[in-house]
Amino acid sequence: MRILGIETSCDETAVAVIQDGERILSNVVNSQIDIHRQYGGVFPEVAARQHVVSIAPVVRQALTDAAVTLDDIDAIAVTYGPGLVGSLLVGVNVAKGIALATGLPLVAVNHLEGHIYSNWARPLEAATSWEPPQLPALTLIVSGGHTDLILMREHGVYEPLGHTIDDAAGEAFDKVARLLGLGYPGGPAIQKVAVQGDPQAFAFPLVCLERFNFSFSGLKTAVLRQVQRLEEVAGGGSDPHRRLKDYRPGLLGRQTVADLAASFQRALVETLVVQTKRAAAEYKVAQVCVCGGVSANVQLRQRIREALPLPVSVPPLYLCTDNAAMIGVAGSYAFGRGEISGLDLDVVARPPLPQRLPSSGPGQDV
Ligand code: KG4
Ligand code: ZN
Repeated sequence: MRILGIETSCDETAVAVIQDGERILSNVVNSQIDIHRQYGGVFPEVAARQHVVSIAPVVRQALTDAAVTLDDIDAIAVTYGPGLVGSLLVGVNVAKGIALATGLPLVAVNHLEGHIYSNWARPLEAATSWEPPQLPALTLIVSGGHTDLILMREHGVYEPLGHTIDDAAGEAFDKVARLLGLGYPGGPAIQKVAVQGDPQAFAFPLVCLERFNFSFSGLKTAVLRQVQRLEEVAGGGSDPHRRLKDYRPGLLGRQTVADLAASFQRALVETLVVQTKRAAAEYKVAQVCVCGGVSANVQLRQRIREALPLPVSVPPLYLCTDNAAMIGVAGSYAFGRGEISGLDLDVVARPPLPQRLPSSGPGQDV
C-alpha cells in the first residue's frame, strides 16, 4: 500500500510517499523560512501564495524520488488543520484535484496526529531491527502552536492529559529569541547561541501546573524582566514598559545573551521533562514519544532520554519539524480504518485531535 502525503499547514510545502504505513519512499520539504525571516514570523498571505507556486513541483519531485507514478498510489492523505487557513486550502485543493482526476480515495489528516505518527515512520537511517513505539505510549507534542501530553492506549485513540494554558513551547522559544535579537525561527537560534552560555547563570522559574498542564508565559516574562535589569546596569536606561517586541539590539553583550538563552532553554526543557516524567509514572506507559518542531532541540532530546526510566522515541530531525512523511504515516493508519473523506472536505483552523472510540470501551467488554 502506498500513500501520497501532502502538508501545507504553515510555511513548509511538503509531499511524501509512504509504503506499508512506515517506509519513507520520498520526503520532499520546500521551506519558506528564508522568505518569512524578514517579517520576523510567518506572513500568512505570503505563505499561501508561496504554497501555490511550490506545490506542483513538490508533488512531482516526491513521485520522482519515490520512483513511482500516481498509478502506484492507493490514497491521498492531506492535512486539513490545524494551521493557517489560506495555506491549508492549497494542500487540500491539490489533494482533491488529484483525487478527482485519478479516482483515488482522499484521507483527511489532523496535523497534530501527523506529528504523533512521525514516531511511527521508520527513519531512513534505521537499522533493520527498528521497531515502532510500543503502546500504551505517552506523547509529548511540542510545536509552534501546541504543548500537549497525550495518552495513547491504542492507535488513533487519544486521551489528553495536559496542555499549555498560555504560550506553546515553540512560541516561547520564538518570542524569547525575538527579545534577545536572535531572529526567526527562534528555537534553532536560541539552541545555537545557548551552546556558548551558562544554563545556571539565571534562575528562571520552572512552572509545573497541577495535573499535567504547562504555562510558559511566566518564564517569558522572567526573561524580559531580567533583560530590563541588565540593560539598566549596562546604562541603557531601560524602559520598564518595554515589551517583548520592542527589542533594541546592542545593549547586552554576546556572553550575556548566550547565558540568557542557555538559562531560558534549560528552564523550558526541564519543565517539559518533569511533567512528562510525572505523567509517564502515573499512567505506567510502555514508552514515551516526543514530537513537533521543538523535539528537534538537542537539549530536550538528551535530557528527556536521560531523565526517563523507560524507552523514549524522538524522531530524526527531518521528521520533527513540519513534513509530509508524518501525514502519510498517519494517513495510512486512517486509511486502514476506512476513514475516507468526500470531495467536500474543508479546512479547519483549530480542530481538536480526532475523537475515536476505544475498540474495547465500557459496555463492549466481554
Ligand atoms: O512543528 P513545527 O515545525 O510547526 C508547527 O506545527 O508549529 O514547529 C515549529 C516550532 C517553532 O516555534 C520553532 O522555533 C521550533 O519549532 N523549533 C525549535 C527547534 N527547531 C524548531 N525549538 C527549539 N529548538 C529547536 N532546535
Ligand atoms: Zn507542525
